[in-house]
Amino acid sequence: MTTLPIAAQPKLPDARGPVSAAVIELLAHCAPHTHLEPVEARLHDSDPLGLDLQLALYVCYELHYRDFAGVDPAWEWNAGLLHLRSRMEHAFLAAIRREVGTIEADATPATEMDRLSTEPADGTGPSYHLRDHGTWQQMREYFAHRSVYHLKEGDPHAWLIPRLGGQAKASFVAVEYDEFGAGSGSQVHQQLFADLMAAAELDSGYLAYLGAVPAEALIAVNLMSLFGLHRRLRGAAVGHFAATEITSSPGSQRLVAALQRMQAPEACIKFYREHVEADAVHEQVVRTEVINSLLCSEPTLADDVVFGIRAWEVVEDRLAYWMMKCWTCGRSSLLRPLD
Ligand SMILES: [Fe+2]
Ligand SMILES: [Fe+2]
Repeated sequence: MTTLPIAAQPKLPDARGPVSAAVIELLAHCAPHTHLEPVEARLHDSDPLGLDLQLALYVCYELHYRDFAGVDPAWEWNAGLLHLRSRMEHAFLAAIRREVGTIEADATPATEMDRLSTEPADGTGPSYHLRDHGTWQQMREYFAHRSVYHLKEGDPHAWLIPRLGGQAKASFVAVEYDEFGAGSGSQVHQQLFADLMAAAELDSGYLAYLGAVPAEALIAVNLMSLFGLHRRLRGAAVGHFAATEITSSPGSQRLVAALQRMQAPEACIKFYREHVEADAVHEQVVRTEVINSLLCSEPTLADDVVFGIRAWEVVEDRLAYWMMKCWTCGRSSLLRPLD
């Protein structure tokens, strides 16, 4: 087993355009002001779902997780940087709402969760491809994409804890308890993923592939941070959480099959096998206890829960489409191909 040093901080990534350059150069070279001086960057010309803005947003959010080596920790609550982050979030959320589109009037959290529970037998996407035809190198690329999430798995949703109450809080924390190893540091899912990375001869360092993944991988994590860090979006955060738990078990089952076919190291299989079993239980807890209890106390959040589920689908579909497009063309899905 490799270790995942608790305090290890990632390096700031290279900028990918003017917006990420404005943020990264500031963090790398400046001390934060104590007075309000908005950090300026031109967002008008920047695609809200593009790599430049998404990397800038990811870097801003990371200040709330582990921060970056050499960055003054006071940047976390710097009003000038938060001003820029807020502008990026506004553009990002508007773009996601456009992508989700109009939600039918009869869509409810229950109908959405039922729909997600019904897996197509002839599905497409990376987990089906990897199970049936994918190469070990494509699997390693898949790990690198997912590393910007799984090495902080559980953390983005944990912002929800103070925003829930009663049974919804108790049941939500019961699921998170498993994500965080059920009392065992070696079984924290973040650690299991670091073990997977090392076993696959990838860099298991925290956010080691931040500069190598496309916007689509960053968007998937930024959406969780956005929902988690804003109390007004707590319904969407719960919907997103439900979508991840409901779809995790069958998706993980396909990845276990893929890894067994590839005769992958046991540590790689272990991470997904753990999710086949745990998430089958988590799905039921989230459906029957977290969502139902939340909606009993706050029924007006139902539309936001549906939005969170649909938003999760949009961003996961974008990442899946990116990977499949690259692999179908016979090229790497990473910005920096693996060795
Ligand atoms: Fe997990
Ligand atoms: Fe889970």
